[in-house]
Amino acid sequence: MQTQRFLITGGSQGIGAAIVAQAREAGHQVVFTGRNEAEIAAVAKATGAHGIKADVSIDTDNARTVETCVSVMGGVDVLINNAGTGYNAEIGDLDINKMRQLFGINVFGMVDLTNRVAPLMKAQGSGDIVNLASTSGTKGAKGGTAYSGSKWAVRGISQCWQAELRPLGIRVVCICPSEVQTNWMGKTGRNNPNKLYAADIAATIMAGLNMPRRVLWTELTVFANNPWKED
Ligand SMILES: NC(=O)c1ccc[n+]([C@@H]2O[C@H](COP(=O)([O-])OP(=O)(O)OC[C@H]3O[C@@H](n4cnc5c(N)ncnc54)[C@H](OP(=O)(O)O)[C@@H]3O)[C@@H](O)[C@H]2O)c1
Repeated sequence: MQTQRFLITGGSQGIGAAIVAQAREAGHQVVFTGRNEAEIAAVAKATGAHGIKADVSIDTDNARTVETCVSVMGGVDVLINNAGTGYNAEIGDLDINKMRQLFGINVFGMVDLTNRVAPLMKAQGSGDIVNLASTSGTKGAKGGTAYSGSKWAVRGISQCWQAELRPLGIRVVCICPSEVQTNWMGKTGRNNPNKLYAADIAATIMAGLNMPRRVLWTELTVFANNPWKED
């Protein structure tokens, strides 16, 4: 892949930080976002990427993010919609404001940012958009109304964007990871070699981007190869 200009949301830790690292290792320019200033600074220092504090659920932050990409890199070739949050609650006991907040990040934030980046990609007649969904968006589960619902939405929206952007030379890829050992929802310190790591998802995304431009992986579900070897 020639040198590309990446915008990665939620690059301050977990899967996003792994994508920042692998994109930089491959020689690409990277702007990434997050909310935790210390973690943004640490990733920026370790990788040489340009990190900014920007909340994807805030429209004005998204406007500033795109302005930063234009001023720092001259545009965006690859948009990775990775920022996401979780909330589990069963129906009858669900805080609708928490669900609205989650959709503001996982769904509306992703749509608002992409709505601002798509015109740049349309004007240049190329681009890649990678949306992080989840296996939780392929099968509903107990307590999953908010999170699973948001990831089903990400998958459906990805298909709409494929219909709109594929004829214009812009690829939209939807990635559905199974459990990944990040600090997701406060789970820390996991290190089971039989389960997925953030770097595995980053490598999968980089592989999809590296396919010849006529190849489009529409949706990719990623499981660990040894799921029966539980902790
Ligand atoms: N881990 C899993 O098992 C798993 C499985 C399937 C799918 N996924 C999806 O993969 C993506 C990344 O998950 P992860 O495991 O890497 O999670 P993580 O370790 O909790 O990291 C989430 C990242 O998103 C950022 N973020 C959250 N809310 C944000 C907001 N409003 N604006 C900007 N950035 C925000 C966080 O930044 P700050 O900390 O700086 O706020 C952080 O960098 C998510 O979309 C998640 O749904 C994860």
